[in-house]
Amino acid sequence: MVTVRVPATTANIGPGFDTFGCALALYNTFTFEEIDSGLHFAGCEEAYCNEKNLAVVSYRSVMDALGLPMSGLSITMHTEIPICRGLGSSASLIAAGAAAANALHGSPYTPLQLLGICNDIEGHPDNLAPALLGGLVASFVEDGHPVAAQYDVHPALRFTALIPDFKLSTHRARGVLPKEVPYSDAVFNVSRAAVLLKALEQGDGDLIRVSLTDRLHQPYRSSLIPGYEQVQKLALDCGALAFCISGAGPTLLCLSKDESFDEVLTHRLSELPGHWIQLPLPVDHNGVQVTLS
Ligand code: HSE
Repeated sequence: MVTVRVPATTANIGPGFDTFGCALALYNTFTFEEIDSGLHFAGCEEAYCNEKNLAVVSYRSVMDALGLPMSGLSITMHTEIPICRGLGSSASLIAAGAAAANALHGSPYTPLQLLGICNDIEGHPDNLAPALLGGLVASFVEDGHPVAAQYDVHPALRFTALIPDFKLSTHRARGVLPKEVPYSDAVFNVSRAAVLLKALEQGDGDLIRVSLTDRLHQPYRSSLIPGYEQVQKLALDCGALAFCISGAGPTLLCLSKDESFDEVLTHRLSELPGHWIQLPLPVDHNGVQVTLS
């Protein structure tokens, strides 16, 4: 049996669409055990207790890569990461299944190799890479070959997730994106993305303010998130350095340096409609963790 703990992840982080992601200290924990046949789930919504469960799909991908037959599986889940909220719940399942299959068969693959094997399941690596590797990661997969660069996040920086009481599927949020973007918008994002990584490493608030911006996805998606503009205004009024959509949303992410930010925001956020939950989340530096027993 293997126990697997996977962090939540926030993807995009402003200009790094489908590229940047950061692991956050909110965890799903799973146990996997191979059984003779069939699938047995505990702690999982009925609708997801089947072959299409992403933990099963990724487990199978790793078994295929190893050239081993798939046995039955018993999976238990203790989930803290909310579903369909832009905090990497799908990637947590993929990372868990991949890490479990790998660990139960001698750990032949590194976390980066698992990214290469499983990236196609979601189709973009920005959640899966930090879920596997931990910390802030920029990544891409080219012809099945995973490439990832890890960056430091200055310890004075604080991430706060603002989670609404409604879901938004990634499928729907990708559906509103245009097929093409103006050259000037592509250049806007490339330049901000490069500067942002240095700004996050150095904890440079002024650089974060000007570089944690985006023209590739947020302008198209913000209207899918009722309350977006009010929450953004409030967060910036309360001293956030920057504000963005976490992944495909609907969670909104604040970056701050001021220790009083969360306290100040709490009072005023509760006055807004939408039942927003405010969750300060430290960076997770470890990525997926496995324990064999
Ligand atoms: N980069 C992805 C998106 C993250 O914004 O659609 C969500 O999985």
